[in-house]
Amino acid sequence: MQYRDERAVAFTASGQSTIDRFESILSSLLGTYGDPEAAINELLEEDGDFVLGHCFLAYLNLLALERSLMPLVGEIIGRLDKIQSKADDHEKEHIAAVKKWHAGDLHGAVRHWEKALLLNPCDLLAMRLCHDLAFFLGDCRNLRDTVGRVRNEWSPSMPGYGYLLGMHAFGLEECGDYDRAKDTGREALEINPRDSWAVHAVTHVMEMMGRQRDGIEWTSREADWAYEGNFFAVHNWWHLALYHLDMAQYDRVLELYDGPIRGNNSISVLDLVDAAALLWRLSLLGEDPGSSRWSEATDSWMNYFGDGIYAFNDLHLMMGLAATERFDEADNLVNSLQQSDVGNANTNQLALQSIGLSACRGFLAFAKGQYDEAVEHLLPVRHRAFHFGGSHAQRDILNLTVIEAMLRAGQYRLARSVLNERLALKPNSPQNWKMVARAYKGLGDMEKYAIAHGHMDQLLA
Ligand SMILES: [Fe+2]
Repeated sequence: MQYRDERAVAFTASGQSTIDRFESILSSLLGTYGDPEAAINELLEEDGDFVLGHCFLAYLNLLALERSLMPLVGEIIGRLDKIQSKADDHEKEHIAAVKKWHAGDLHGAVRHWEKALLLNPCDLLAMRLCHDLAFFLGDCRNLRDTVGRVRNEWSPSMPGYGYLLGMHAFGLEECGDYDRAKDTGREALEINPRDSWAVHAVTHVMEMMGRQRDGIEWTSREADWAYEGNFFAVHNWWHLALYHLDMAQYDRVLELYDGPIRGNNSISVLDLVDAAALLWRLSLLGEDPGSSRWSEATDSWMNYFGDGIYAFNDLHLMMGLAATERFDEADNLVNSLQQSDVGNANTNQLALQSIGLSACRGFLAFAKGQYDEAVEHLLPVRHRAFHFGGSHAQRDILNLTVIEAMLRAGQYRLARSVLNERLALKPNSPQNWKMVARAYKGLGDMEKYAIAHGHMDQLLA
């Protein structure tokens, strides 16, 4: 039998209560709180015919981006095969998407959710998954436009409309439409002040515009995003740390790192990415975070060594191995990534070949003090790095690393050029002025060095 959810989308289940209970589980995922996996497992024990529920459980395990979870997804696919005859055309698109994603074909999965959205533009789960995979694929246009293609079909009074706006806000931000992103994010938060993704979208606006003080003030609404049980909180803490980093408030950065960012010793990949990125950024600025912090985070990262499931994550593991001078393991990581599944249609392999391997080699060369070699590896990939996922703010670590390599290698003209590019986009960043001052000093232009230093001092004052 089919029953309708609060947006009038029909799903196969054994009763209306399944669909009603699923609504709160879906909110738990979109609102990033609670334990949606435990809740869906409990629901499926009571209603094994709930086709979308099995897909949802598969999606949760795929979203974790951990190879060890793939056999479980395979088992769920087996269960879906047994009940597939009960599914309608819309649900069959979800089943097909699970299979494509499990096979590593992220573009293929997205095509099936797009078809599901043609049939039911108010399928909030398909919408969210299109959004998530656009993020993994670094596809900023579709982060924005998958929402744009359905938004007119929604009514603002529909449950979940706020989450739709939160997604739109982040897509607008990644496309550089900062004013609309900010307004849309605020609109989402008027509907649901605890929409962490909408908070996050506005946080990105502040980051990209170099509005550090505004960002610190914005994130001070901690009760909305840092409450107990919010599994996205670490990432928003990480954003707060970035504002302080730009303002050269390093003690505060370490306080955040040791507290809400890393204090719980999480082994979640999402949290480990933020840990490695923050320590690496501190190191680039000449602020040694200390070997114990690096070792702790890197040891946790080793749970995912050689996963080869998401190149963006592998680069963050590489940061830990390189920074702790575990060079043999770092070389092994590059070799294992190079040899895994090359040549098939796996989306991640394309990202690895076009960006991930060069990025890993570049960071490794940097840690070994081979700065010219680091520039050779990183310079060609920095402008196409969006292909391997993440946000502009996260991928900026490639730019920061290649610039630091240029400065340390004495490639001052090149550094000046790339830094001028940054200043044209983000003139309010003290760290940008600090770096360009170093480039001018290296070039012997002490007049411009003094001007750049003056800008930095003014912004820090
Ligand atoms: Fe972010």
